[in-house]
Amino acid sequence: MSKKSGPTYGIDAAPLPALLGAAGLAAAVGGVRRRSARLGLVSAALLSMTGIYLHTTLRGKFRVWERELDRLGLRGDEQLLDMGCGRGAVLIAAAQHLPSGRAVGIDLWTVDQSGNSPQATLANAAKAGVADRVEVRTGDLSSLPFADQSFDVVTAAAAIHNLRSPGLRLRAVDEAMRVLRPGGQLLIADPWPFNRRYASHLGQGTVHRLGPSYWYGVPLLAVTSLHVTKAN
Ligand SMILES: C[S@@+](CC[C@H](N)C(=O)[O-])C[C@H]1O[C@@H](n2cnc3c(N)ncnc32)[C@H](O)[C@@H]1O
Repeated sequence: MSKKSGPTYGIDAAPLPALLGAAGLAAAVGGVRRRSARLGLVSAALLSMTGIYLHTTLRGKFRVWERELDRLGLRGDEQLLDMGCGRGAVLIAAAQHLPSGRAVGIDLWTVDQSGNSPQATLANAAKAGVADRVEVRTGDLSSLPFADQSFDVVTAAAAIHNLRSPGLRLRAVDEAMRVLRPGGQLLIADPWPFNRRYASHLGQGTVHRLGPSYWYGVPLLAVTSLHVTKAN
């Protein structure tokens, strides 16, 4: 009997860990050839960063999002939008929290995640058993094709910081607030300098560290959460 494969979610910004890993291996080879302890240390640092990055993208972020979705205290019938859903890591975890709700993902399917496509996301939703309550749309985060106040919850995982300019990133945050119902919750996971900027733009929200399980290699790229409840 053939074993069914589960969902596969790709690697976030895959060229980055590939470069880090290649530089680490080159430093290791150079260190051995030249008998250089300094190159050995550089190699160890680069390879550790690569390992931390891969752990985050393949395992750590999933555990963190399970915890953060639990903390939202969802009833299970909410309408949720996941901005920059990629292959569905958060979208599908959210759908699993919404037995009688709906999880909509929107993305432009860029190379920010390997193997990114709406087909890959829908195939993952089917493998996870939540295809009946997952929908994907193609669109830009800075101009969401949804009516005002149409979602109870909006999430965005490592997505908004990818927009090209500070102005576009703030516009995406404003769009998230626009489509959120009064009393609805917004949860953005992004490296800390970005989330602090979004919170100061909105004039509200709490920013929390999410820990080393959500470090893209180095503490400078440590992901935080920004949680906002829209006023009634
Ligand atoms: C690093 S991936 C994260 C994907 C997913 N949220 C996760 O955590 O696995 C960033 C995602 O943001 C999407 N993205 C980047 N800029 C975008 C934009 N302007 N509009 C829509 N999606 C965008 C990319 O296509 C990619 O799928």
